[in-house]
Amino acid sequence: MQRTFAVIKPDAFAAGFQGKIISAIQESGLKVVAMKTLLLSERQAKGFYHVHAERPFFGDLVKFMTEGPILAMVLEGDDAIKRWRDLMGPTNAAEAPSTTLRGQFGTNIERNATHGSDAEDTAAFEIGYFFSGLELAR
Ligand code: PPS
Repeated sequence: MQRTFAVIKPDAFAAGFQGKIISAIQESGLKVVAMKTLLLSERQAKGFYHVHAERPFFGDLVKFMTEGPILAMVLEGDDAIKRWRDLMGPTNAAEAPSTTLRGQFGTNIERNATHGSDAEDTAAFEIGYFFSGLELAR
């Protein structure tokens, strides 16, 4: 059993795609074990994406992620990290197949509807950044 961190980003949240995305997660067999809606501050978004701080798009990414509310979730299941990334599709929504969530609900490499952890260590950091142990107790 593995846990991963998932986000419905401001573009998909504002468009009201939360229900469809959560349904797709549940239909895939992954379990939503925690979820919360929040509006990130600039400081919080910068902390979340600190690994990208030196990249040229960092400012744009932080601006986008703070433009409106997001839905943060912890997903659980066998091989959850890879299964959630497969469900999302490639980072660039403009190139994502229409069978994937980013293909259906995203627009481009910035406004790509969803986020998912890319490895076990990033999942651990990202889950801990948004959720306390108490919120994850099962
Ligand atoms: S990946 O999958 O992590 O390797 O993708 P990567 O290309 O490294 O992108 C990391 C996150 O940065 C976002 N991104 C951008 N935002 C704004 N403008 C530009 N040009 C841009 N390029 C990449 C991308 O959506 C990734 O966000 P997350 O939340 O990790 O999906």
